[in-house]
Amino acid sequence: MALVSGPGRAGGFPSEELHTLKHVAYIKNLDSRKNELEYWLTEHLRLNGVYWGLTALYILGHPDALSREETIDFVLSCQKENGGFGAAPGHDAHMLYTVSAVQILVTIDAVDELEKRGQGGKEKVGSFIASLQNKDDGSFMGDEWGETDTRFLYGAFNALSLLGLMDMVDVSKAVTYVQSCENFDGAYGISPGAESHAGQVFTCIGALSIAGRLDLVNKDRLGAWLSERQIEKGGFNGRPEKLPDSCYTWWVGSSLAMIDRLQWIDGKKLAGFVLQCQDPEAGGFADRPGNMVDVYHTQFGLAGLSLLGFEGLQEVDPVYCMPKSVITRCFAR
Ligand code: FPP
Ligand code: ZN
Repeated sequence: MALVSGPGRAGGFPSEELHTLKHVAYIKNLDSRKNELEYWLTEHLRLNGVYWGLTALYILGHPDALSREETIDFVLSCQKENGGFGAAPGHDAHMLYTVSAVQILVTIDAVDELEKRGQGGKEKVGSFIASLQNKDDGSFMGDEWGETDTRFLYGAFNALSLLGLMDMVDVSKAVTYVQSCENFDGAYGISPGAESHAGQVFTCIGALSIAGRLDLVNKDRLGAWLSERQIEKGGFNGRPEKLPDSCYTWWVGSSLAMIDRLQWIDGKKLAGFVLQCQDPEAGGFADRPGNMVDVYHTQFGLAGLSLLGFEGLQEVDPVYCMPKSVITRCFAR
């Protein structure tokens, strides 16, 4: 893979090193910090956190660092009667945790456990997701309470396509809805008429990619808007006038990769910024150099470096944000 002019997996990156083993230890230890307040303050994100940590470990080349059995037990303990998943046992089902549950089970090749140990197999999960589509405009809600967001539409397409259940939803209506979120600057917002935001660009372009409709995208105009997200220091911001943030290495970088424009940015400078966000002693990545690390920025910083072809990292799929080897295996079936 030689996506970015200049550096490639063979080298040419900034002199800062990637502290691979520190990051592996940081992620492995996240679950052993139950006596710390931060652990409990992030309970509402627990299933997302497992997806972020697991994917980061795969990208780092340490796929077996977490116990497979314990991971399956935890994921299934988050499933609700309606087939959806909550953030942690006892939490209500929501689209975003359901997507993480599917991504985790696909990554560790354990979707069959939904049949063996879950309630109703993958079709029950699919019916929860499908129940969240608004029949009038094709958009998706996050839960039964009705908030609509392109993150939920992308999540539905991500999980249903991984499960082979896309026919449970109205794909063409959803595609029309995504198109209605496009702005005059070529980028996309959370809903029709909403401000362009790089996170939402990822969800809209990811959904169109899964639907096989990237032909609808004005790639040069969007590519120009995304390229402008790179600021002096080398990092990406998510919107004009905002500070750079390591997670946008993923949201902007994967969007550029999906529309074949990743070579429009300076990959070397970007990688340099992300490497400065590492905690070289305790492991993990922060949003900006010197800030506190967290597993979200660790995952999206590493996934961004992988997109850039950073040496020693496993390849990530720009559409699913999962290991490329896993996506290849999943769709070969
Ligand atoms: C920025 O969020 C990112 C987004 C808005 C996109 C998030 C996408 C999902 C949750 C869908 C699932 C994603 C994957 C990879 C499976 P932010 O809250 O950090 O934005 P801010 O910078 O404006 O605060
Ligand atoms: Zn961030």
